[in-house]
Amino acid sequence: MRHFISLNQLTNDEVYTCLETAEAYRNRTKRCNQNHFVANLFFEPSTRTKMSFTVAEKRLGMNVLDFQSATSSMTKGETLYDTAKTFEAIGADLLVIRHQSDDWFKELKEKITIPIINAGAGKAEHPTQCMLDLLTIYQEYGTIENLKVVIVGDIKHSRVAKSNAEALKRLGAEVFFSAAPTFKDDSLEFPYLSMDEAVEICDVLMLLRIQHERHENQTETTNYLEEYGLTKQREKRMKKESIILHPAPVNRGVEIDSGLVECKRSRIFKQMENGVYVRMAIITQLLQGWGKSNEYALEKC
Ligand code: CP
Repeated sequence: MRHFISLNQLTNDEVYTCLETAEAYRNRTKRCNQNHFVANLFFEPSTRTKMSFTVAEKRLGMNVLDFQSATSSMTKGETLYDTAKTFEAIGADLLVIRHQSDDWFKELKEKITIPIINAGAGKAEHPTQCMLDLLTIYQEYGTIENLKVVIVGDIKHSRVAKSNAEALKRLGAEVFFSAAPTFKDDSLEFPYLSMDEAVEICDVLMLLRIQHERHENQTETTNYLEEYGLTKQREKRMKKESIILHPAPVNRGVEIDSGLVECKRSRIFKQMENGVYVRMAIITQLLQGWGKSNEYALEKC
């Protein structure tokens, strides 16, 4: 496997190998002496994904090339393909790309010979976010199988929802959606629950950000929390052990009551921490051979 574009590329065993590799990196400070050059090409805003990739790359001892789209030659009309080809020509070993297009990788994946990691593709896929969500759930329950996971919010515009729903289903979870009518996506075949039903049955409540930047018209959010979000009253009806996830950034007071963001059952900042280990694992597996055991990947450190 040359690129990491989608969770669909991996077998279930390969997903679990990645989760175990990420776990092994959790308390590890040893650096890999790889002398690899990596460029993070972000064409949409990001705090968590870009910075956690940077931390992961530096912890692996990689050389991180400084790229800012606003000061790059893309402002002179250079295409994404020619930009990627340029990095390949000057000796980059790995590209991490986030772009607003749903399928930016289609043109690149056949023609770019260095590995590419998808750090977010429009409304379509966010596989590294999915992998860190899987790790967070796996740490909690030791399995994905038979868990009830409800993905709540702006399903229609969310790449996180799409990557997670498919991967969780494939790994044996029972997946449901909950959304305001305008945020439903009928092209995805998952049952919808009301938020009141969702909080009572879920093991994992995965909240999503309202993606205002992808809406054609301004979305009214007055009363959204009471009608569709996680209020303090609803949180009290959740099962004792069930957890709250959110990929962040969070619209506090909209999809979740601000006081719940750091509550006991919230794993929102744990997800961010896990993002570093998962990205270390994905980079290592991609550069050293996916499917090799995690011992092999770690031996190289
Ligand atoms: N969860 C996530 O992708 O966050 P950023 O947009 O800040 O990278």
